Amino acid sequence: MIYSRIAGLGYYLPEQIVTNDDLSKQFNTSNEWILERSGIETRRFFKEGTDTTSSMGTRAAEMALKNANLQAEDIDFIIFATLSPDYNFPGAAVLVQRALPFREIGALDVRAQCSGFIYSLSVADQYIKAGMYKNILVIGSEIQSNILELSDRNRSFAVLFGDGAGAAVIQATTDVNRRILSTHLHSQGKFAEDLILEHPGSKIFDRMNPKIVEEGRHLPVMQGPAVFKHAVVRFPEVIMEALNANNLKVEDLDLLVPHQANLRITQNIQKTMNIPAEKVVSNIHKYGNTTAASIPIALTEAWQEGKIKEGDLICLAAFGSGFTWASALLRW
Ligand code: UT7
Repeated sequence: MIYSRIAGLGYYLPEQIVTNDDLSKQFNTSNEWILERSGIETRRFFKEGTDTTSSMGTRAAEMALKNANLQAEDIDFIIFATLSPDYNFPGAAVLVQRALPFREIGALDVRAQCSGFIYSLSVADQYIKAGMYKNILVIGSEIQSNILELSDRNRSFAVLFGDGAGAAVIQATTDVNRRILSTHLHSQGKFAEDLILEHPGSKIFDRMNPKIVEEGRHLPVMQGPAVFKHAVVRFPEVIMEALNANNLKVEDLDLLVPHQANLRITQNIQKTMNIPAEKVVSNIHKYGNTTAASIPIALTEAWQEGKIKEGDLICLAAFGSGFTWASALLRW
């Protein structure tokens, strides 16, 4: 049997650190509100002219390749998860393909928002198990600071999001004891408008006009409390789905790496599922919500900090716009 495993991890974070106090100088918010409601202390904002979503993804990919002891030419396929590609088209994956000396391989963008990294991991896992590819680069990268309006009307959204990138090399293996055990993907499109960035979109002829900007319909909109309520149900559900599929129990978990949406969501999952806090990775205080990048950044940091040992059982889980939600269970 062919399985797949994570052979290398990497991330890239833009240099500019933005504090809650920096934001509260620009609109009506406060460090206390942001910290209490989300757990966020700082986030990173990209530097125009230096960083793009694809260039940050490329930097993360370089680190993942190095950690996997591979060269760009060893990669067979690129998958790029993002809600903030450099261009409306082409996708970001082809821009990574041209940035490093890859062969003329397939390059696919995945649009699953906060679940994008796990969706991409699942796609990579299937290609590898089918015997089609041996080494696949999976990237999650976002520039979101420029879709936030630092204003009162956008304040509940603007305080939560940040920029960053993470990457993983997924590699074929025959080792049944160290591999991706399973992935589980879900969606519920009836909630598509509960977390949405509508314009510029293709539904109207002029795509963008002054009225849209005046009404703020070019800004992301989130029904925050509704998203929160769904998230705290779907996270435990999809984590249990992964454990049940492998005849494993919550107590068997060594590490849970949830998408970093809100510290209160992470704490809620931990308490509902009775998982010790030290087994749950949280770095939202540093980076805010980086959407498709949050899981690979958190996983890479956990690995760098020595929190991951050979043979550990690791669960990745995400919930976000779509709604989409997903989990992956790994034996490291
Ligand atoms: O990653 C994708 C998935 N996303 C998520 O999972 C996010 C889920 N939702 C959340 O994390 C939370 O709902 C938020 C952090 C977005 C909001 O927290 P909340 O506790 O649900 O606050 P709320 O939206 O119910 O607002 C409470 C109050 C309101 O004032 P009133 O009506 O009680 O007077 C808001 O106007 O807080 C006010 N508020 C703010 N105050 C200061 C909203 N945003 C801010 C702000 N600063 N930035």
